[in-house]
Amino acid sequence: MAGRFSNKRKTASSAAPANTPVEQKPDERLLAAMARLDAVSPAEPPEGGNTPAPNSPAAAEENGEKPASPEQDEPASEGNAKLRDPKFLDAKVRLHRKLIDEINLSAIDKVPEEELRRQVAELASEYVLAERLPLNAHELEEFASELYDEMTGLGPLEPLLKDATISDILINTHAQVYVERFGKLELTPVRFKDEAHLLRILNKIVANVGRRVDESQPMVDARLEDGSRVNAIIRPLTVDGPLISIRKFSKKPFNLEKMYEFGSLKPQIGEVLAAAVSSRMSLIVSGGTGSGKTTMLNALSNHISHDERLITIEDAAELQLQQPHIGRLETRPPNLEGKGEVLQRDLVKNALRMRPDRVILGEVRGEEAFDMLQAMNTGHEGSMATIHANNPRDALTRLENMVGMAGTNMSEGSVRAQIASAVRIFVQLSRLSDGTRRLTSVSEITGMEGDIVQMQEIFKYVRVGTEEDGTIIGEFRATGVRPKFLDEIKSHGIEIPGEYFDPKDPL
Ligand SMILES: Nc1ncnc2c1ncn2[C@@H]1O[C@H](COP(=O)(O)OP(=O)(O)O)[C@@H](O)[C@H]1O
Ligand SMILES: [Mg+2]
Repeated sequence: MAGRFSNKRKTASSAAPANTPVEQKPDERLLAAMARLDAVSPAEPPEGGNTPAPNSPAAAEENGEKPASPEQDEPASEGNAKLRDPKFLDAKVRLHRKLIDEINLSAIDKVPEEELRRQVAELASEYVLAERLPLNAHELEEFASELYDEMTGLGPLEPLLKDATISDILINTHAQVYVERFGKLELTPVRFKDEAHLLRILNKIVANVGRRVDESQPMVDARLEDGSRVNAIIRPLTVDGPLISIRKFSKKPFNLEKMYEFGSLKPQIGEVLAAAVSSRMSLIVSGGTGSGKTTMLNALSNHISHDERLITIEDAAELQLQQPHIGRLETRPPNLEGKGEVLQRDLVKNALRMRPDRVILGEVRGEEAFDMLQAMNTGHEGSMATIHANNPRDALTRLENMVGMAGTNMSEGSVRAQIASAVRIFVQLSRLSDGTRRLTSVSEITGMEGDIVQMQEIFKYVRVGTEEDGTIIGEFRATGVRPKFLDEIKSHGIEIPGEYFDPKDPL
């Protein structure tokens, strides 16, 4: 049957056969539907015989699921505020589940847009009537239109992507989706129809950045159009189905002031770091996954002079530097034939031919460490990177190992000497057990003694206790060491008050 794609909706198609030419505009249909409102009893299921069971709020709660209604969704500036209301987001999530049950998803791309819009609008109005959602005809039309966009976009993920209070979306197979809000994980009622449905959406995401995911390439990094970062891993490397992690792009990038508000560090420490950055001291932000390294790198980069030319290098672009003069580079994975891969190392080498004042490396992970140190040692002072490490000493060791991967035959001593002369400051971050992200140490490299890199801690976070609910109590303290780099900062005309380094009282 031409144009027919609905595989289950028998009752609805008898009321409006799918192969009838579409004459009525959706809004007329919806107006007519609204007129029927009073005829519909609230208890009546949306479709004859089709109980609302698996999709109804009550059923979801019985299953021990938490509805995905956000406590404080930031209303988007555009669009209808009512539709941004948590209640409607929630309704949408549920309606999505219904839609993916009723519509033949694999046919979506082949069905004419008009036809698909019509069917979605029809289902939406039936649902709105049955659930007695207080929408007027115009709002209903908007609701249906958003649903359509979402169905053809990233499906059940769209409401979560729109919810500004969600920072991470964690998909554990098609049947389970968690989100992170305010540092806490919560289960959502969002589901995909089946594994094929989830894979289809995943492939849409990765195709956008020219990548693909299949059995031969079951691990992939990608980025959504809004800048959100996606990692996906599928069978055969996963046991139960696709595992997808989305780190949402924050519309408002953090600055140091916001971090003070969050208690991630003290203004005195921020002031010292900002001064070091603007005085072109090469710096490395280290920490575990999700500890806030990229966020910190972004915030610190605000203190780079707008006169400088910056080149950023990342595997998946997520830095949001505010400077006007910036060139952004991104690595490329191999193509189908396993060719054409471009590594971070290639990009760092290339960046050095682009007359940068500073090179900003999103995350140093391997042999490119060598080239980055070279850059820092050859006139690109003030270059910055993040590294995955548990403490500043660990970061040093890892850096050393990474340089070793570059295969330069340098002795251990000369690798360390390279590091000691290139990097001035390590900023250590941690995600504590209560979910908060904190700066836990600022350390300065002061040189070499024999074969050992000399490092001294300037500031640290000291844990003093734990509240009953698990909240960690702690304070930021100076160690009493007056950093060597203060003189250099001073030569750039920046004064840092001496009392910042007084260890007597917490900052
Ligand atoms: N200081 C902070 N306070 C609260 N949330 C933060 C802070 N720093 C980062 N985040 C949030 O934590 C998540 C991980 O941050 P990100 O910088 O990407 O970590 P990393 O680069 O270490 O993996 C993001 O959602 C980010 O918005
Ligand atoms: Mg990062």
